[in-house]
Amino acid sequence: MIILGIESSCDETAAAVYSENGLLSNIIASQIEHEKFGGVVPELASRAHELIISSTVTKALTEAGITLKDIDAIAVTQGPGLLGALLVGLCFAKGLSLRIGKPIIGINHIDAHVYANFIEDKPAFPFVSLVVSGGHTQLSYVEKPFFHQLLGQTRDDASGEAFDKIGKLLGLPYPGGPQMDKWAKEGDPKAFKFPQALLHDKLDFSFSGLKTSVLYHLQKIPEDDREAYVTVYLADLCASISHAITEVLVKKLRKAVKQSGVNTVLLAGGVSANTMLRQKTEIWAKENDINLHIPKPLYCTDNAAMIAVTGYMRAQANMYDDLRMKPFARLMAKNMQKRSEHKLL
Ligand code: KG4
Ligand code: ZN
Repeated sequence: MIILGIESSCDETAAAVYSENGLLSNIIASQIEHEKFGGVVPELASRAHELIISSTVTKALTEAGITLKDIDAIAVTQGPGLLGALLVGLCFAKGLSLRIGKPIIGINHIDAHVYANFIEDKPAFPFVSLVVSGGHTQLSYVEKPFFHQLLGQTRDDASGEAFDKIGKLLGLPYPGGPQMDKWAKEGDPKAFKFPQALLHDKLDFSFSGLKTSVLYHLQKIPEDDREAYVTVYLADLCASISHAITEVLVKKLRKAVKQSGVNTVLLAGGVSANTMLRQKTEIWAKENDINLHIPKPLYCTDNAAMIAVTGYMRAQANMYDDLRMKPFARLMAKNMQKRSEHKLL
């Protein structure tokens, strides 16, 4: 079974090939045209996907040492994401499906982040997953493949969004997450005390208060001195902000694991590449005999290997889609419980 995976939900055009022998190729083309806007511009993203999707897929096939006729199914991100960007991937996958006469499999991008942990590993079910990406922060109980029960999610900004928005306040280039990670390594996480929204006993998250608190912190410094202040304290600020975000994530994760009684935990999404988060969860897992799985940093952020491996798992479960499949921009309540049933919205 050979699966071609295609990802185009945001600003990465990616293609990968996965088979029973593992990952055969993984091509990622990141769009740089958004940098000067400090965030992803949807229309620019769609156009950039359109320009390079064909060559990206060709590269993935070449690197895997296969041709179109070797593919058994095409897995493609169906949502959530930018509608125009998703449409590019979906239309391309549908065209390819018609041309080679092989089935198509629509992939939920958030599920795929979780299943990125299966690219080089075989975590045991059931498990608790924590997806921390640019658009989502979700804690779920996953009983078996594609049965995700939502335990908690963010009420406002996602954790990656918090890193990016605060990074912008500090004058860091977009995306702020990896930049803050880099600076945090040289700073003192206890230098400044920023709020951790724990929302009482809930498993939900909120990060917008932290962003406001950083804004007020900076506004207290006279305008003429602010730039110099940020330059001098950048590492301590990044470390303290990262501490506040990761403490909340780890505390909620610990609570979810205690409540659900599992001993396997999967971290996923762009923010799971974060050094402080990885260190904190690794220490906690070791002390509590938890089987912790975190993808390699390359598989934490958007990629098509996670789409291909999820497609492989769906193909094994006979979960194919057809050419009527439409993209969806958001996750809706009705497809949160049993992701296997997500189809059209
Ligand atoms: O999963 P992802 O690649 O895309 C989405 O599905 O959203 O996540 C992107 C997010 C961005 O907000 C980015 O700043 C954040 O992940 N991110 C990080 C790190 N690497 C990526 N945040 C903190 N530390 C990192 N090392
Ligand atoms: Zn993602």
